[in-house]
Order: sequence, then C-alpha cells, then structure tokens
Amino acid sequence: MKFDTPATTNPIDQLKVIGKPTDRIDGPHKTTGTARYAYEHHEEVPNAVYGHVIGAAIAKGRIASIDLSAAKAAPGVLGIVTAENAGKLGKGEFNTAKLLGGPAIDHYHQAIALVVAQTFEQAVAAAQLVRVKYERSEGKFDLAAVKDTGVKPKPGLGGASDTAVGDFAGAFAAAPMQFDATYTTPDQSHAMIEPHASIAKWEGDKLTVWTSNQMIAWSVGDLAKTLGIPKENVRLISPYIGGGFGGKLFLRADALLAALGARAVRRPVKVALHRPLVTNNTTHRPATIQRIRFGATKDGKLTAIGHESWSGDLPEGAPETAVGQTRLLYAGANRMTAMRLAVLDLPEGNAMRAPGEAPGLMALEIAMDEMAEKLGLDPIKFRILNDTQVDPEKPERPFSQRNLTECLRTGAEKFGWKQRNPKPAQTRDGRWMIGTGVAAAFRNSLSMKSAARVRLDNRGMVTVETDMTDIGTGSYTIIAQTAAEMMGVPLAQVVVKLGDSQFPVSCGSGGQWGAHNSTGGVFAACTKLREAVAKKLGLDAKTAVFADGHVSAGGRSVPLGQAAGPAGLVAEDAIEYGDLDKKSQLSTFGAHFVEVGVNAATGETRIRRMLAVCAAGRILNPKSARSQVIGAMTMGAGAALMEELAVDKRAGFFVNHDLAGYEVPVHADIPHQEVIFLDETDPMSSPMKAKGVGELGICGVAAAVANAIYHATGARVRDYPITLDKLLGHLPPVA
Ligand code: MOS
Repeated sequence: MKFDTPATTNPIDQLKVIGKPTDRIDGPHKTTGTARYAYEHHEEVPNAVYGHVIGAAIAKGRIASIDLSAAKAAPGVLGIVTAENAGKLGKGEFNTAKLLGGPAIDHYHQAIALVVAQTFEQAVAAAQLVRVKYERSEGKFDLAAVKDTGVKPKPGLGGASDTAVGDFAGAFAAAPMQFDATYTTPDQSHAMIEPHASIAKWEGDKLTVWTSNQMIAWSVGDLAKTLGIPKENVRLISPYIGGGFGGKLFLRADALLAALGARAVRRPVKVALHRPLVTNNTTHRPATIQRIRFGATKDGKLTAIGHESWSGDLPEGAPETAVGQTRLLYAGANRMTAMRLAVLDLPEGNAMRAPGEAPGLMALEIAMDEMAEKLGLDPIKFRILNDTQVDPEKPERPFSQRNLTECLRTGAEKFGWKQRNPKPAQTRDGRWMIGTGVAAAFRNSLSMKSAARVRLDNRGMVTVETDMTDIGTGSYTIIAQTAAEMMGVPLAQVVVKLGDSQFPVSCGSGGQWGAHNSTGGVFAACTKLREAVAKKLGLDAKTAVFADGHVSAGGRSVPLGQAAGPAGLVAEDAIEYGDLDKKSQLSTFGAHFVEVGVNAATGETRIRRMLAVCAAGRILNPKSARSQVIGAMTMGAGAALMEELAVDKRAGFFVNHDLAGYEVPVHADIPHQEVIFLDETDPMSSPMKAKGVGELGICGVAAAVANAIYHATGARVRDYPITLDKLLGHLPPVA
C-alpha cells in the first residue's frame, strides 16, 4: 500500500479499540516470567554452552601476543575464539568487523576473545587465564582538547553538517539584544536492564540466533555480511527485549561472538555481555560542546539564531546531531547551524533515545530561558512569540501539524504557571529553595516502510506476524489493537507474533518511528485481508462492514471464521511512503514543566513534580504512550541531575561502568508525573494518523529541570549533569 496522499476516513477512525487505554497484551507473560528474553530460551536450546567475552584492557594499540594455553587446559573449556582463529570477518553496514578486535585495538573493552565452556563459571574462570600482552599507543580521549580538530561530518540521518539562511553574522552583530553561551552534555550509557545477550545455534550452514535486538532485518544483514554467508541462512529471533534505547539498534559483539563460538565448538553457545561491557564494549550517547547565539529585537523577536555542536567518535564515526531541532524549532530570518566531529578513541558513540534532539534541547532550551530573562519576558511568552508554522529554513514548507503553542498554554494552565514569581531564588519551603522551569519538546517523526502478514482462521482468530520488535514500548498491544479495529474483532481474538526474521520486514524499533509505521504495515495487510474475505464471499469490499466478528454487506452477515473456512485466509502487505514527508515537515511537539527543591545547605536537588504536554498525532494506546512518556521524563531527570559516564582521560575508558557508579533515577527521585496528550490526528503521517511519542517524552526534560534549578537558586549551571558540587558556592546564604 502506497501512502502518498493525506489519510481520509478509514476503519481505524471508528476508535472502538484504537485510542482506548489498553493493558499490555504481553503483560501477563512478563509478570509471570513466561516472556522469554534472549538468554532464556532453554526450551528451544536445552544444550547451549557458555561463552564469556574478554574485552581489551587498553584503549588503543595492538595485541603483541595472546597466550591461550592455560585457558584451553582449564576445566570445561571447549574452545576460544579470537581474531586469529575466527577467519576473515566481513564489514557490515555498521562497521561490524570491529566487533572482534585484534591485533589492532580500537577502544577499551573491544572484544578480543570469547572463551566457551560447559558452564558459565568455567568460562569466566578460564577467561582469567588468557594472557594478553599489549602495545599501547597514544589515544585521544578528551573532547574539549580535540574539539578544534573537528571536521565537517558527512551528511547522515541528522542532515547536512552545516546550514545557513540569511545573514547570521550580520544580524547577530546588529541585534539590540544578544546572547552567546556554551553548554556541555556528557557521555551517557543506555544502561538498559537486560544486557546485550544472544544464543546461537548452527544446523549445517544455517544459523539461528535468539537475541535482544531492536532492528531485526538490519542485524540479519549485518550478521550475514560479517560471517560471509547468505542472509537467507540467518534467522534472528527477538520476541522480548528488556530495554534498548538505541543501544540495540545494531548487531553487537554478543550475537557475532555467539555465532563464531557455536561454529568453533559445534554446540549452541549463549553469550551475555556483563555489565561493564554494556558500557565500554557497546555504544553510548556521545558528549557534546554546544555554543548557542541569539540576536533579538528589544521586544523579543529572534532575528538571528546560531547553534554549533562539537562531538567526537572513533574514526569513520558520526556526530551527535545536536543542532537538528534548532533548524526547525523557532522562527528567525537569519540562522546558522554547524556540527563538527573530532576523532576520539573512546568506545563508539551512537544513537541513544532521541539522538540529536535530547542533548540538543538540553542546551537550546536553557539558552531560551536565559534569553527570555535577558529580555524581561516570561519564558513561555518568549517561546510563543517565536513559534512558526513553517520550516524556518524553507518557509514554503509547512509543518504537517504543529501545536507547540497549545502545549505550552495547556501546560501553563495545568501546572499553575500564573502563580510563578518570575524572579529567581524567592521561594522557600524550609531549607528547600523552590523553583519551576519550562522547556519546549521537539522530535521529528520519520516515515519508514513496514510490512506485516495477517492470518484469519476458521475460529475467527486473527494472527499478525511481523519482525517488528517490542522493546518495552507496547508494540504488541498497539499492533493487536490495529488488527482488532481493522477486522472488527475483540482484542482477545488477536494473536501477535513479533521479532522473528521469518516474518515480513517491519520498520523495527528506533527513533520513535515504531508505532505509526509498524501499525501502518498492519493496516495495509488487514486492508488486503478484508478484500480477500469479501472476495471469497462475493461481497463488495468497499462497503463491507467488519464488526462483532462478522463481515456484513448487501443484507448478508457472515461470521469471520466461516468466511475463512478450514484453509483460512492470509494476506501480506507493507506500508510504503511517497513524498508527503518532503512536502511538509512531520514533527512532534510538547512542553515540559518541572518543579524542584534545591537544598540551600547541600545543593541537593529533588524533583517535586513533572508535567508533560505532548502533541504527537493520534495516540494509539494512551496507557502505553503515557508509560513511554513518564519513562522518558525519568530518563530526562537522570540526564539533568546524575547521568554521566566519567572519562578516564589518560587510560581512555568510562570508569563508572556499572549500575553502582553510573547513576540513574530510582522511584524515590521521581515523586509525581503527569502526562497530557493533545487530542489531535495527523493525516499526513500515515493511515493511522499517529506519530511517535516515546522519544518526544525525553526531549527538553533536562533543560526544564535546569531552568527550575536556576529559578530556585539564581545559580545558572551550563554543564550537565547538575550535581550539587556545581551549585555549592553559588547558592544564597542559608536562612
Ligand atoms: Mo532510538 S535512540 O533510535 O532506539
């Protein structure tokens, strides 16, 4: 099905199932432990042995020698895979050859060996006996030190490296009101609960891998290319995923090494990355340095907007696209953005929840708060004053839908913004200095091809199959809702099967593109199935009504099971997109409000309440969408207050590589959260009229916290996370 004209009324608009707050259909499996994660497929693979990954102990250099003799002789050891004996590895789309390092070492904890043994303990014990001699070479580990060596990155998902409209320099110099400040955001880890894990099993030249991966088709392709086998010979199965956040978008060492290990020892092999390897072996969100400049008229109209961002990555890497939202968020005739990418020999930087916008808004939305104060304007008024309905870089291009102002107004009303004293450091609650902050939220909505297969059996059961993944987001449920709505059956009549490369290729989970695209594919397949049902009965598909488990037309009504017959009916289709997303800009919008208390004596920040207002098209399942947003708000609170991978700038690794040292928020950090969805539909997005929301939820949160801290204390911190040491010495005297 080609989606190339705006959606008209369709069966989804009935909203009998779609749009209703719906419990996860996979919830009982998760709460009873019957949902099996990658490492837990004991029934399918009862005879798996254990692989333990050894990570490089240096950040850059070479392996001079590697002595496996003691490890090979250790109890239970079946084999050891290294770059020396693994055979030649191909290079996938995502630089997968480096998933097994040696002799050259590219980064700390790059995998250099897999020790395979009968038991987990034997594998771990034998790994200690592997003797590696390294030749260390100089590496670059400090972004601030290498920033000025940064070059223009190749255009990628985040667009061109530089944009320029009008005359930024001239307009900035001439502006009566100017602002120029630099912000920093740190490296962050996905820190998902389930580590990267895989079980690999060979049958002849056919490979099956149970794994934890967001993008099944990408990883099938990359695993096949890396191993040098046809992709038809690779099957990936990833039905449940304990968190991804972008860290499981790509093939990682666990899956590749499990496959190599299983080939070497001729047994199925299971591999889970231990927690430190999640930090230094896999990907992370790269640190940024961001400079923001504004020029404005005295009454607060932006005339010049400049945003530059510096980040680093391994050679051939990509930038953190932190300037993306600044190209689209506020009006202003003269504008420039630029990204510069320096080489860093730290582990690979890559996508983490709302890559680009999340760290970009951490800077931009503090800058907006600072500029509003400079102008003597309320920060909400200042944002509304500079709102736009068209792409500010290409004014002929409208947004498909943009309700940012309504998000800000609705939130202000609900949050009680009117009562706010605009002067900072004025409100006390005992030793707590109280402040409130606001930030705009922005995240793009991407159109991606997505396919599904739908079966109807003679009991009237509808089964959906697609390689779409559910990373905790609720994909199972919105897909079931879509099929139920389309086929006119209750939710309990729908079975959803996900995450298997034998199913049609979906959009996968990433970049908040999963919801509208994967359900769009199910919509397409169900449309075809409806046609097949009608055709079989000799009914007119256009006027046939699918409701209450029956199909009805021309005075006839037939139960769906009877229509399907003993052989059943099956239909497969994909949603594919034309150029609607070029004619108009598809984005999602929101506003975050935060109240904090900062301890006047210790500088400790406690968040007291949070509110998000989101405008993201039709909300398919308000219950799971709310969960997505409150999870994202929690992640934003972590980004504001605690999350930071501490770089050892001499040895070149992230020191706090466990969940004791890498702090993320816990329940006690997050007392009250509220989410409001604006009631809207976006007919330009897909037949579902929905857009993503899971990443919108994090965008702007950290800046809202930062702005609230400033409002509470009068102390402005421009370097995240805002830990108490950065506030001490800047707080007013304790009363
Ligand atoms: Mo998301 S960072 O694209 O999984």
